[in-house]
Amino acid sequence: MTPLLLDGKVASAALLDFLKPMVETLDPKLVVIQVGDDPASSSYIKQKVKSCEKVSMRSDHIHMPEDTTIDTLMQKIDELNNDADVTGFFVQLPLPDQLRGHEPEIIKAISPMKDVDGFGAYNLGKMFLSKEFEHLPPATPSGIIRLLEHFDIEIAGKHAVVIGRSNTVGKPVAIMLLNRNATVTVCHSKTSNLADIVRQADIIIAAVGQPKMITADMVKDGAVVVDVGIHRTDEGLCGDTDFDALLSKVSAISPVPGGVGPMTVASLIRNCVTAKERQMALR
Ligand SMILES: NC(=O)c1ccc[n+]([C@@H]2O[C@H](COP(=O)([O-])OP(=O)(O)OC[C@H]3O[C@@H](n4cnc5c(N)ncnc54)[C@H](OP(=O)(O)O)[C@@H]3O)[C@@H](O)[C@H]2O)c1
Repeated sequence: MTPLLLDGKVASAALLDFLKPMVETLDPKLVVIQVGDDPASSSYIKQKVKSCEKVSMRSDHIHMPEDTTIDTLMQKIDELNNDADVTGFFVQLPLPDQLRGHEPEIIKAISPMKDVDGFGAYNLGKMFLSKEFEHLPPATPSGIIRLLEHFDIEIAGKHAVVIGRSNTVGKPVAIMLLNRNATVTVCHSKTSNLADIVRQADIIIAAVGQPKMITADMVKDGAVVVDVGIHRTDEGLCGDTDFDALLSKVSAISPVPGGVGPMTVASLIRNCVTAKERQMALR
C-alpha cells in the first residue's frame, strides 16, 4: 500500500491561509538578524522572508558583518527589544566563530514576549505545564505537531519515539507529544539498543542529524515517520531516514525536502501572530 505523504507544502499552505486574515488585522512585524554569510542561513532566511510575503506580513532582514562582536550584537538585540513596532525577532544560527558559545547569552537577551523562535527558557518552561501554555513553542517542534494534526494522525495513546534530544527539536517535540497524550521515548547517542526501541514506535520523529540513519529494518509495519533531518549530499537533499526503503513499510512519512522545513517557517509566522496578540492584550 502506498503510504500517506505528510506533505509539508500542503499543510504549511493551509496554516498560512488560516493566518493571513489575522496578519491583516494585527499587522505584526518579524525581524531576522543574520551575522555573517553562511549560505545555508541565507537560504533559510530567504524562505522565511518569502513566507512573510505570502501572508503580507512585514519583515526586516538585518544583515550584520561576519566580524560583529558580541557587544554590537547585544546592542542590536536591546534595540529590537525596545522597539514597539517589532513584534518578534530571532538571531539565525549558526553564528560565526567569534560568537560561538555565546548562543545561551544571546537567546537569554531576547525578550520572552518577542522570542518567536521559542528557544528561551521562559517559553520552553511554559510548555512543560501543559498544551494550553504552549504560547511561543519552538518553531520546528510546533511544525511537526501541526503536520501530524493536518493529516489527522492520531497522537493520543500512541508510542512516539523521538530520536534526538536537542533543546531546539528533540526535547521540546517530546514534551509536545506528551502534552497530547502520547507515550514518549526519547533516544540519543548513548541509547542502548536503539533499533529495538525504534521498532516499537507507532510514531517516529527522526531528529538525529545523521543522513539516512533510520533504516527499514528499524521500523515496524504501519508506523508514521516524521523526518526532521536535512542534509546536502552528492545525490541531493536527504533526511535522517532512508525514505525510499521505508516507503514499503510505513503508513505515513514526511519527505525531505518539503516536509518539516515549510512547517517550521509557517510555525514561526504563527508565533509572530500569537506574540502580537499577547502584546496587544497587555497594552
Ligand atoms: N527542517 C527543519 O526545519 C529543521 C530544523 C531544525 C533542525 N533540522 C535538522 O534536524 C536534525 C536534528 O537537528 P538538531 O538541531 O536537533 O541536531 P543536534 O543538536 O545535532 O542533535 C542531534 C541529536 O541526535 C542525537 N544523536 C546523534 N547521533 C546519534 C546516534 N548515532 N544515535 C542516536 N542518537 C544520536 C544526539 O545525541 P546526544 O544528545 O547524545 O549528542 C542529539 O541529541 C538535523 O539534521 C538538522 O539539520 C531541521
